[in-house]
Amino acid sequence: MKKRYVYLNNAATSFPKPQEVEQAVLKSIRDLPQNVHRGGMFFQDKMDAHRKRIAKFLGVRNHKRLFFTSGSTEAINLIMKGYDLCRRHIITTATEHNSVLRPLYHRLRVNMSDATIVPCDATGYVSPDDIRNAIQLDTAFIVVNHCSNVTGTVQDIAEIAAIAREHQVKLLVDASQSAGNIEIRADKLGIDMLAFTGHKSLFGTTGTGGIYIKEGISVIPLKTGGTGYKSRELEYPREEPHIFEAGTQNYTGIAAMAAGVDFIKKQTLEKIQEHKKKLVSMFVDEFEGNPWIKLYHSKTKSSYTLISFNIENLEAEEAAFILANSFSILVRGGLHCAPLIHKYLGSEPHGTIRVSPGYFTTEQEMRELIEAVYKLIDYAKKQV
Ligand SMILES: Cc1ncc(COP(=O)(O)O)c(C=O)c1O
Repeated sequence: MKKRYVYLNNAATSFPKPQEVEQAVLKSIRDLPQNVHRGGMFFQDKMDAHRKRIAKFLGVRNHKRLFFTSGSTEAINLIMKGYDLCRRHIITTATEHNSVLRPLYHRLRVNMSDATIVPCDATGYVSPDDIRNAIQLDTAFIVVNHCSNVTGTVQDIAEIAAIAREHQVKLLVDASQSAGNIEIRADKLGIDMLAFTGHKSLFGTTGTGGIYIKEGISVIPLKTGGTGYKSRELEYPREEPHIFEAGTQNYTGIAAMAAGVDFIKKQTLEKIQEHKKKLVSMFVDEFEGNPWIKLYHSKTKSSYTLISFNIENLEAEEAAFILANSFSILVRGGLHCAPLIHKYLGSEPHGTIRVSPGYFTTEQEMRELIEAVYKLIDYAKKQV
């Protein structure tokens, strides 16, 4: 018999996927002979329809400026390696994921660039004023993680976008943890570039995502190759969407991501938010003030999609290991690919235990987690 487990690691990847997404994957595989004829109108029309739906969901008016990638990592790499290489300075925050920090570090080395990493507070909130104060004459762009994958804290993107605009600096937002959890109105907020992933809260499959690049922003493509378009020309096409979509695309994954977006619209974002908030609040209400638990949480700035904590005398990875192996509860322990934030949270060197319920998580499952955490506290007390 299959072992039952409680899955509380949706910030890594959402699980399970809605039936509608499963069906979209099957349908796409069955339709494949029609799809792979890349130059054919059938394929173009389908991809364009998916592009339009996803763009609308993210508040992007010009869907032609939304390009599919293998995820946020590729989307961010595209900008880091291809946008405004003449200007040297980049601003980012201590809350970033390695998908920003490592390409940034790479750019600093190969491009002799220079970066300011703006600090955050003990819950992962970055003051927009600190970003303003970091702007220099040769700042190429600002890159900000919309919602921390460690604490769930949401940055004030409207304010940061206004500062960027005022100083004529572009803003790249990493929406990996926010898309599908928080309403994103990219154009309204004044976001210049938006990286998103398909496999987290958009309910898509792994290896999907994209980048929105506002009209007029010129970026050197990361890849060139076949596009099924203007095949006689050796010069790579500059037209959208081909310019950033060389090679055979992940049609199945894109169809799944679009089905995930349709699912969210059908359920409504409000209902999804409400459900996750209830589950996260159960945990916060239970352990707030408990001297054995340290919560890394902002009551006012949290997305209420995840919660990070630590248990006194117990390392985060050990706690996650015990939860998985003794209680069949899957959470994540450690640095969560965000190495810099922990200095500000006070969770160095071991990181935190992160619990991220999903839309399909039940209150009963959260109660199982709470009971297991009480047992872990008992275990930790014996280690004193
Ligand atoms: C904040 C953040 N940025 C970027 C990524 C990378 O996303 P992808 O898996 O689409 O490359 C993640 C995934 O863990 C993330 O949480």
